[in-house]
Amino acid sequence: MKKIGVVLSLMFLIGVSIWSCNKDQTPDDGPTPYTLQIPSHFPPMDIPADNPLTVEGVALGRKLFWEPMLSGNNTMSCGTCHFPAASFSDTNQFSTGITGAVGTRNSMALINLGWQQFFFWDGRSATLEDQIFRPVTDPTEMNETWPNAVSKLQQDSEYPSLFEEAFGEPGIDSVKVSKAIAQFLRTMISGNSDFDILYKFNNGFQLTSSEMARYANISIEAKAGYGLFESQAGADCIHCHQGPLMQIQAYSNNGMDLAFSDLGRGGVTGDPLENGKFKVPTLRNIALTHPYMHDGRFQTLEDVVFHYFFEVKQNSPNIDPNMEYAHVGGVGDHLSYPQNFNEIVAFLNTMTDMDFVNNPDFQDPN
Ligand code: HEC
Ligand code: HEC
Repeated sequence: MKKIGVVLSLMFLIGVSIWSCNKDQTPDDGPTPYTLQIPSHFPPMDIPADNPLTVEGVALGRKLFWEPMLSGNNTMSCGTCHFPAASFSDTNQFSTGITGAVGTRNSMALINLGWQQFFFWDGRSATLEDQIFRPVTDPTEMNETWPNAVSKLQQDSEYPSLFEEAFGEPGIDSVKVSKAIAQFLRTMISGNSDFDILYKFNNGFQLTSSEMARYANISIEAKAGYGLFESQAGADCIHCHQGPLMQIQAYSNNGMDLAFSDLGRGGVTGDPLENGKFKVPTLRNIALTHPYMHDGRFQTLEDVVFHYFFEVKQNSPNIDPNMEYAHVGGVGDHLSYPQNFNEIVAFLNTMTDMDFVNNPDFQDPN
């Protein structure tokens, strides 16, 4: 019996060593492609050919998004100013960086970034990969140099192998950090709010029976608000906030100021005709992303809608011609207050997608 036991365990050991030799010798297949679940009513996503999504890359990007080592004093991660409960934005008007310096713009919600064609309120980054380089070195944000950040990751017990698994070769650099975070950000898709049910219903998409039940539960008030939102004779929001992404890819001045303390797009291009124009933001999860506008000037959705109803400044330089009711101060000249006003606010509240906010795949893994 004893002998058989020894022989068996020897065979087992030999088996294990052959298996592990094979494992070492088999050429690595490289990272595993990641399959994105794109909602049926969304357009396809353009993913750069030099940064395909992989399971290992997305997981690494998530870890890096939440990694305080990317900041000068190891206290701040991307998630500090882009946190889940605020739909990956910041509820402070301006975010405070690690040195205590305060920025001048409101943190943007990170949603459906894979469909964006430019980034930041003034569009100063043309790609997601480029955008990610900036907060790390920004003195009002993470205030770290890339060589320092990379060397901290290199000395870490986990990162060197995670980078190797994600990119199929050893080595860590800032390009790989930005590629991995970009992969993660492209997986952050929000497409399951009550608004999505309304959108699909109105645009002839087949609803499942549970979606039909959800449709029936959406208030008459919100449905009326959607009608007004989309109608040119109504609240006329549709020129700029439209489609499943609830935005167009453009810069626009929606008539808030007679003079600009922040030039917006004009500050980047130097073209005075672009002064006061900002990126048209998505309205998804808008109830969670207060305060509002590039400078966080409005605390509530009521404040925002009040602007569009009564406070649009016709003489704001470069005002968007699509602010069709600017000459009468806004859409409040023909819509009722408070009824139509409340309907629009109710519609804006249908854009909340708690599945997105609570998605376990987006939370801090560290
Ligand atoms: C100190 C707070 C802070 C930190 C930390 C921070 N951000 Fe931001 N983020 C902002 C602010 C504020 C803006 C808007 C800035 C602007 O438009 O000038 C922004 C904008 C963005 C945008 C543009 C979104 C769009 O729709 O155009 C992306 C993407 C983004 N941040 C990702 C990140 C990533 C990734 C990190 C970590 C590497 C990060 N942020 C770290 C505050 C922060
Ligand atoms: C002509 C284009 C245009 C039209 C029409 C328009 N918006 Fe906007 N909207 C913008 C721009 C541009 C911003 C960002 C402005 C800024 O920050 O300076 C914005 C911002 C917002 C925000 C704040 C978003 C955030 O993340 O802070 C809300 C909410 C909003 N709009 C709702 C509406 C509603 C409701 C209507 C219709 C009554 C409407 N918009 C009509 C262009 C437009």
